[in-house]
Amino acid sequence: MRKTMMWALVTAATLAAGLGTACSDDSAETSGGGDVCDISCDAVPTFSQLSWNTCTSCHSSDSAVRQAQGVPADSDYSTHASASVRATTVAERVNDTTNPMPPNGSTALTAAEKEAFTKWGCCDAPP
Ligand code: HEC
Repeated sequence: MRKTMMWALVTAATLAAGLGTACSDDSAETSGGGDVCDISCDAVPTFSQLSWNTCTSCHSSDSAVRQAQGVPADSDYSTHASASVRATTVAERVNDTTNPMPPNGSTALTAAEKEAFTKWGCCDAPP
């Protein structure tokens, strides 16, 4: 548990450091969240304001559900601690047209919900 927390902190710090560049410099992005995160970080929603219930049928707190749904073993979006370590990936995938999240066939996000996930994921993932 303790090791996981440390890893989460290190990852969050790394992401935060990287985001500083991503948000202010749009010239050198070649892949990943660069374009998606080329947004202004005002009125960033908090974790609890996002529609995670659209995700947790698969990205569940229950590891058996995660395994059955085929999501990565640690991809639990029921808490800020576990979701925030992959914040930029969340922002990328909700905007990914070829490999979207939620996947095609499940309940889609509204435009407002998608924007909220994007801001949260790109702008330091506040709790
Ligand atoms: C119907 C099940 C299902 C739902 C609902 C779902 N996902 Fe996923 N998700 C998956 C599966 C399966 C994978 C692993 C395969 C892949 O990456 O496409 C995945 C992978 C991901 C990944 C990459 C792995 C990771 O966790 O870093 C992200 C990010 C993600 N999902 C975000 C979301 C978000 C955000 C939502 C809700 C808005 C959501 N997903 C809803 C099934 C789902």
